[in-house]
Amino acid sequence: MNRPFRPALDGVAFIAAVASACCLCAQAGESPLPHLVSKDGRHALIVDGAPFLILGAQSHNSSAWPATLPAVWSAIEAAQANTLEVPVYWEQFEPEQGRFDPAIVDQLLLGAREHKVRLVLLWFGTWKNGSSHYLPMWMKRQTGLCPLIIGKDGRRVDSPSPHSAALLEADIRAFRELMRHLREADPRHTAIMVQVENEPGSWNTVRDYSPVAQKLFAAPVPVELLTALGREGRAGGDWTAVFGSDADEFFHAWSVARFVGQVAAAGKAEYPLPLYVNAALRDPISRPAAGSYESGGATDNVLDIWKAAAPAVDVLAPDIYMSDTARYMRVMDLYGRPDNALLVPETIGSAAGTRYCYAALARGAIGWSPFGVDSPGRGAGAAGPTQAGDAALDPIAINFRVLNPMMREVAQWGFEGRLHAAVEERDARQQTLALGRWQAAVTFGPPTFGFGKAPKGNPDPVGRVLVAQLGESEFMVTGYLCRVDFKVADPASGSQREFLRVEEGSFEGGAFRPARIWNGDETDWGLNFGSAPQVLRVQLGTF
Ligand code: DGJ
Repeated sequence: MNRPFRPALDGVAFIAAVASACCLCAQAGESPLPHLVSKDGRHALIVDGAPFLILGAQSHNSSAWPATLPAVWSAIEAAQANTLEVPVYWEQFEPEQGRFDPAIVDQLLLGAREHKVRLVLLWFGTWKNGSSHYLPMWMKRQTGLCPLIIGKDGRRVDSPSPHSAALLEADIRAFRELMRHLREADPRHTAIMVQVENEPGSWNTVRDYSPVAQKLFAAPVPVELLTALGREGRAGGDWTAVFGSDADEFFHAWSVARFVGQVAAAGKAEYPLPLYVNAALRDPISRPAAGSYESGGATDNVLDIWKAAAPAVDVLAPDIYMSDTARYMRVMDLYGRPDNALLVPETIGSAAGTRYCYAALARGAIGWSPFGVDSPGRGAGAAGPTQAGDAALDPIAINFRVLNPMMREVAQWGFEGRLHAAVEERDARQQTLALGRWQAAVTFGPPTFGFGKAPKGNPDPVGRVLVAQLGESEFMVTGYLCRVDFKVADPASGSQREFLRVEEGSFEGGAFRPARIWNGDETDWGLNFGSAPQVLRVQLGTF
């Protein structure tokens, strides 16, 4: 009973081997550089030498200032996040041409260490939500330095040109400086990832129609792209000849991704932290026509183009603000690929939205992070919590309170493909998880005694369960407002489930420490989870 449980983690040895083989350990006294590893089509973010899960929270856009950071730190504490995602603004970082001011970066590093959390820095450079509003004022005053793109009607569009060499050069210089500064100022790797730009692309036009863009559009599609897409046979064809009705959008995606890829590569050459680009999404199910969503960004239909154009970008990450389950899941399935780790860098932190955290983990996500956690009460128009006070962050904290103590284990289980999840739906209060020899029967709603009663569901569909399969008949289970039971998957076997032992406990120092055994009312009708953070180790047998 008191024997600490250590899961058999084959992958740990693998990760240690990868880390040393790649010489990623820094000099003595420094921690190894955060990096991504991939195996069998799954991914892990390695931080301090082991898989790490970004249980993140992102600040509002204009919060990375000394005056507003106290509210950010307090929100991080209330949300119980282990990582703060926070912008670094070009206009703040290079207030005068060639003069860089890293003071805010240093303040963020210090604050994160004090609060014992990690940082993901968001480079608000050339693009922020398709526009270039974060360019320093000295650049905005020199229009030649930051040309805008031209729409089909010949009018300027509020979006920077991906064809401007001067803009690219200026962004490279600044981003390189940011990464150089991080390398020097952060030997402990408090910052574990950097986002390059923010939702790059363009709204209100599918592409740039300026003379320079028109010329490129009429030129042959780069062989590099054709090769990456397996379309070498089309060499010599222009964009329209090769891509037909997709030509405008694909051309813009290539142009934006080439620009961002060069910024990323320059920064990475200074300091090779994992880099990602976030994307404003298109509807993943109706797949509407180009022009109705941000064009040129890493939408699901151009991921291959982005991969070919920007190899220095490690991860293409969806900002998921969709509140219906089918779309949320579809997006995660489209972005979690053997060549792309699933990372949800922005999402909804509402009570219903936070149930998708478990669904992300079951898909092997390396991180999941609600947006706009500080300054709640901004009103319904802004993303992020709409109520005032820390209580607004409770839905996020409910997940993170359970996950934080076993974050390393969950990250490892995700990497090994051991995780399964169910999330409540109004029309699916009863769900089944396939677990090899076993099935987990999950029902949502207030705990009840007795079998055979139809599950009532919760007033709002907020229930969720996360199951890690550690062995054929051994599981770690946590849930919220639901009941979990197990049955033998093959009914013809005639065998029935027996709970050999159900232990409630917690993870400490990499080991599961049981605190009590559940039995009697706690197991006779299945395992009932209320709102308390509970983790169960379940060992099953049959009779
Ligand atoms: C997505 C962007 O990436 C964020 O910076 C923010 O603008 C949200 N949309 C909306 O609040």
